Amino acid sequence: MTGRNRSADAPEPDVDRPDLPGVHLLDHPLIASLLTTLRNRDTPPHTFREISGRLGSLLAYEATRSLPSKPLAIHTPLARHTGSQIAHPVCIVPILRAGMALAGTVLDLIPGAQMGHLGMFRDESELSPVHYYEKLPASVAHGTVLLCDPMVATGGSVVAAVELLKRRGCDDIRLLCLVAAHEGLARLNAEHPGTRVWTCAIDTALDQRGYIIPGLGDAGDRTFGTVDP
Ligand code: PRP
Ligand code: URA
Repeated sequence: MTGRNRSADAPEPDVDRPDLPGVHLLDHPLIASLLTTLRNRDTPPHTFREISGRLGSLLAYEATRSLPSKPLAIHTPLARHTGSQIAHPVCIVPILRAGMALAGTVLDLIPGAQMGHLGMFRDESELSPVHYYEKLPASVAHGTVLLCDPMVATGGSVVAAVELLKRRGCDDIRLLCLVAAHEGLARLNAEHPGTRVWTCAIDTALDQRGYIIPGLGDAGDRTFGTVDP
């Protein structure tokens, strides 16, 4: 599961997993604390949405650290200056519906980004993804895709999304998620080796219904308040 207990003199921002190439686990006490609130079944939807959004920003901040930039010549009020700007387009792609919990604040962080949408839900009997909607900008293939889905359980949905994005020509796909099961990440890595992932937690188990244990429950239901009483 997430987060080792770290001493104050070990300030690495994230932890690379040798068993899961490309996966970055954000190991940070503030993230761990926010995630604990999300996991808590007593957290109401409005708080769940707010915290998911905050974590979305933090995930995007780390996932964009290595974006290429290019020089930009400007004049400050006092002098000429060569600054920098992001070199290639960024497209934020939430997997509907739960991915919307992250996408809004990612767009706040990168207001010049475009937004595409993929509709995908998991058939709960087969645990297989059902693709029902796609709206992607034409430029999606020319830059970086920040794929947003808070949960990676069996990995079926995200594998299908990455497949589709690759068919559309995308080759820089970065997945942002809140909680990922080790099994789902291993499947993603087997089917799309080296896909880069930023996650707040890696949980070890799935239950018989394919829910992540301990997880946080159904992210879509908890975000949108559609949990049956
Ligand atoms: C959730 C989640 C992922 C998927 C993960 O979506 O947001 O897309 O399940 O499960 P998997 O890794 O086993 O495929 P869900 O199907 O609940 O749809 P929703 O977001 O519309 O509620
Ligand atoms: N989808 C969710 O929202 N939660 C899980 O635990 C598994 C799939």
